[in-house]
Amino acid sequence: MGYAMAERLAKAGCDIAVWNRTKAKADPLAKHGAKVVTHLDELAGTDILFCMVSTYDDVKEVIGKVLGKGRPGMVVECSSISLEGSAELRRLLSKHQVQYLAAPVSGNAKVIKAGKLTFVVSGPKEAYERARPYLDMMGGGSSYVGEGELARIAKICHNVMLGVVIQSLCEVTILAQKAGMPRHAFLGFLNKSVMGSMFTRYKTPALVNLDFHVTFTPKLLRKDLDLGLGAGREFEVPMPLASITRDLLQQMIGQGMTEEDFSTLLLMQAGVSGVRLEPENVPVGDGL
Ligand SMILES: NC(=O)c1ccc[n+]([C@@H]2O[C@H](COP(=O)([O-])OP(=O)(O)OC[C@H]3O[C@@H](n4cnc5c(N)ncnc54)[C@H](OP(=O)(O)O)[C@@H]3O)[C@@H](O)[C@H]2O)c1
Repeated sequence: MGYAMAERLAKAGCDIAVWNRTKAKADPLAKHGAKVVTHLDELAGTDILFCMVSTYDDVKEVIGKVLGKGRPGMVVECSSISLEGSAELRRLLSKHQVQYLAAPVSGNAKVIKAGKLTFVVSGPKEAYERARPYLDMMGGGSSYVGEGELARIAKICHNVMLGVVIQSLCEVTILAQKAGMPRHAFLGFLNKSVMGSMFTRYKTPALVNLDFHVTFTPKLLRKDLDLGLGAGREFEVPMPLASITRDLLQQMIGQGMTEEDFSTLLLMQAGVSGVRLEPENVPVGDGL
C-alpha cells in the first residue's frame, strides 16, 4: 500500500523521501523521482510524514524512531489501527508539538494504481486542509469526519463490512456453482445488479480464475475484524455477523492459509460444500 501511495506522489512531481524497513522494496520508487532513504531519521524534518505500516505496534516503533531524531511538521497516519492506539499516538505527537491526522484508507494497491484510493480523515481541520492536496494526488479524494480518532471508527466499520461481504460473496458464488452455473456467469449478473459494487467487480477475477495473488492478507483482515469486535464491545453494539466471519477467517488461518489473498475464503467455502474448484480461465474485467 505504502509503495503504491508513494508512487502516485512521486509521479505527481512531489518532492518526496521514502523509507521502508526492507529498502529493496522501495528502491524502484527512485525512478519516479523519489529519494529512497536508508535511515528513518532522514525523514524527521519533513513537512508532512505519511505512515503506512501494519499494526499499531509497528506504527509506534516507526514514529518513535522518527521522533527520537527530530520533528516532522505533521504526521498523517494511514495504517488501519485501533481507536486507542490512535489516541495514544495523538498524545505522543502532541507532546512533541507535531500535528496529527488519522487518515486510514479504502482500496488495495490496484485501486491506488487506478487512482481510486479514498481516505477518511479526522484531526485538526486546518491540518486536514494542508494535507488535502496530497491526499487528492493519491487517489479519489478524502472525507473529513471530525476531530480526534473518528476516522479510525469509520475505517474499522468499513473493514468489518469488507470481511462480511467477502464471506457472503464466497458463499453465494459456491452455491451458484454447485447448483450448476459457471462462476463467471453468476458474478457477471451480480456485478450488473443493484448488489454489484466496485468491490464485487474487482474481486471477480480472483473468484472466477482463482488468482489469489495477495492484495490484503488474511491476518490483516483478522486484525480489522478484531478491532471491530473490540469497538462493538466498547460501545455495547452486538456484531453477530462480524463475530462469525472472524471465526471463519480464523479457521482458514489455522489451516495455514495465510500467505495468499483473503479471498481464499472461497477455497474454504468450496471445501465445506463438497465443491471442486478449477480456474474457469475466462477473461473477466476488474472494473477498475
Ligand atoms: N492491502 C489492502 O488492501 C489494504 C487496504 C486498506 C488498508 N490496509 C491497511 O494498510 C496497512 C498496510 O497494509 P499492506 O497491505 O500494505 O500490508 P503489507 O503488504 O503487509 O505491508 C506492510 C508494510 O509495513 C512495513 N512494516 C510492518 N511492520 C513494520 C515495522 N515493525 N517496522 C517498520 N516497517 C514495518 C512493511 O515493511 P517490510 O516491507 O520491510 O516488510 C511493509 O512496508 C495495514 O494496516 C492494512 O490493514 C490495507
